[in-house]
Amino acid sequence: MIKIHKKYIERTFYLAKKGLGGVRQNPLVGCVIVKEDKIIGEGYHKKYGEKHAEINAIDSVKDKEDIKGSSIYINLEPCSHYGKTPPCVNELIRHEPKEVIISNRDPNIKVNGNGINALEANGIKVIEEIKRREGEDLNKRFFTNQNKKRPYVILKWAQTEDGYMAREDGSSQWISNAMSRKLVHKWRSEEIGICVGIDTAILDNPKLNVRKWYGEDPIRVIINPKNKSLNNKKVLHDNLSTFVMTEEKDSTSSKKKFFKLNRFSFKSILEKLFDEGVSTLIVEGGSKTINYILKDNLWDEARIFIGKVNFKKGTKAPDLKIRNKHKNINGDKLHIILNDEGNSNK
Ligand SMILES: NC(=O)c1ccc[n+]([C@@H]2O[C@H](COP(=O)([O-])OP(=O)(O)OC[C@H]3O[C@@H](n4cnc5c(N)ncnc54)[C@H](OP(=O)(O)O)[C@@H]3O)[C@@H](O)[C@H]2O)c1
Repeated sequence: MIKIHKKYIERTFYLAKKGLGGVRQNPLVGCVIVKEDKIIGEGYHKKYGEKHAEINAIDSVKDKEDIKGSSIYINLEPCSHYGKTPPCVNELIRHEPKEVIISNRDPNIKVNGNGINALEANGIKVIEEIKRREGEDLNKRFFTNQNKKRPYVILKWAQTEDGYMAREDGSSQWISNAMSRKLVHKWRSEEIGICVGIDTAILDNPKLNVRKWYGEDPIRVIINPKNKSLNNKKVLHDNLSTFVMTEEKDSTSSKKKFFKLNRFSFKSILEKLFDEGVSTLIVEGGSKTINYILKDNLWDEARIFIGKVNFKKGTKAPDLKIRNKHKNINGDKLHIILNDEGNSNK
């Protein structure tokens, strides 16, 4: 039986992942409705503010009478509160499935166990923790938001084979290959914010948008404590959103916002961003910015490309223990490091 539950929970993961980039600060959720070992309906949460996975799955069933006595698989406990949409648990109860099988409880205190209690109080069996770890990994962003009350932070950089991130003259282009750069644009489309230090914003004058993939552009976040001039820089002169975090001034003009932070630190930057709805952040350098974050241990994941070039001298890449295990991206080595205790710099 457990084998069958795992099979359908895996299907919910597959469906849930399709929502990446669209659900914003909501969790990724997939739902599969099974009767006599056949899928009779399925759905996932597609877009923030729109229908949840359970409702899309119910909507997809041709004859709603078939849901009676079915097994409903969802990777996350169904919601039991009124948010942007009514509680899903009421709809599930109304259709009288015999059981609901989930991977994770919802850590949101408005739900946490209440969805399960409501199902059980209505005679519906609940089976929990099927592929719990994989479920947590799928919703790593959401779990970090709920448990740590801060954005999920991904560090990304490219370094040379001999460990440099930029040349002596400050240029850093073409460390990674075209395929790696395309992958980075996909990653940008999956997160809500993208961050660089002020020197990168000035020296490289990047657009920090999504061009080599499809999807929404993230909000650009520039760490600029001393409010150095960004005149003529692309991040202030296009129609996309930019937040500048400074010690100097607060001001807002259309999509460009300057936030004055009193105790300037990456921690206070994350607090402000979280208040502003930036629940995930990809940080793309430079080296000083990433070293600040490593020192404060305020990161969740690092994605490091090692390109096939050598600079011999220049700006050293951040000092993070990189194991041999990597993916091959057309010749570049991609190392993905999770900030569990073994990798943290503290
Ligand atoms: N290979 C790659 O993947 C990659 C990626 C990006 C950039 N780069 C290269 O890296 C070079 C720039 O990097 P960089 O290390 O010199 O500078 P940077 O990291 O872009 O900017 C550093 C500055 O940002 C501010 N800052 C960032 N985090 C802060 C914090 N937590 N608290 C206070 N201030 C903070 C400080 O500004 P103040 O100095 O005003 O205090 C700091 O000096 C460029 O040459 C660029 O081409 C390479």
